[in-house]
Amino acid sequence: MAARVIRPMTFSDIDRVAAIERATFTVPWSTDLFMGQLRRSTSILLVCEIEGVLAGYLIADSFVDVWHIMNIAVDVPHRRDHVASELIEAYFAITEQSEHRGHTLEVRVSNEAAIELYRSFGFIASGVRPKYYPDDKEDAVIMWKDWEGEFA
Ligand SMILES: CC(C)(COP(=O)(O)OP(=O)(O)OC[C@H]1O[C@@H](n2cnc3c(N)ncnc32)[C@H](O)[C@@H]1OP(=O)(O)O)[C@@H](O)C(=O)NCCC(=O)NCCS
Repeated sequence: MAARVIRPMTFSDIDRVAAIERATFTVPWSTDLFMGQLRRSTSILLVCEIEGVLAGYLIADSFVDVWHIMNIAVDVPHRRDHVASELIEAYFAITEQSEHRGHTLEVRVSNEAAIELYRSFGFIASGVRPKYYPDDKEDAVIMWKDWEGEFA
């Protein structure tokens, strides 16, 4: 089995991360956005390397008392090989001792792969943000995990 490593993202990863991002999303994060996120002390940025090549990444941040998964993507040749799952497991391991009230994220209503991924980790759909995505005005599903308060 190919050697895999999950590790923190560094500034030297950004070119590769941004290339995967541009190939993945219709409204990709800019390099500056990745850099800004790397500078935030509350942020969690992880990458998965397979045989030394960056194959996927996850970015989350803390907002008040909630963790927010802001970005996750896997390079096409490595999809459906549990790269995203390993990134999410590592993220949960980092956040499990925190006193946050749960985890949330937004996902396109049409993104069945991601919705299934999040469901497999116990995220539950709790509502819709209408016209959330600026390019085509697609709605976002709001998902939560381990939330015990009122839904936003
Ligand atoms: C969504 C994404 C991150 C999943 O990454 P991945 O590494 O392929 O996912 P995993 O292999 O860890 O999949 C774990 C589980 O998620 C579900 N899943 C993943 N891809 C799926 C697909 N295409 N169709 C249905 N279920 C899928 C399955 O339950 C899967 O478990 P299984 O393979 O044992 O059946 C990847 O498809 C991707 O990069 N998509 C484009 C970016 C994106 O949509 N990001 C999310 C934005 S909110």
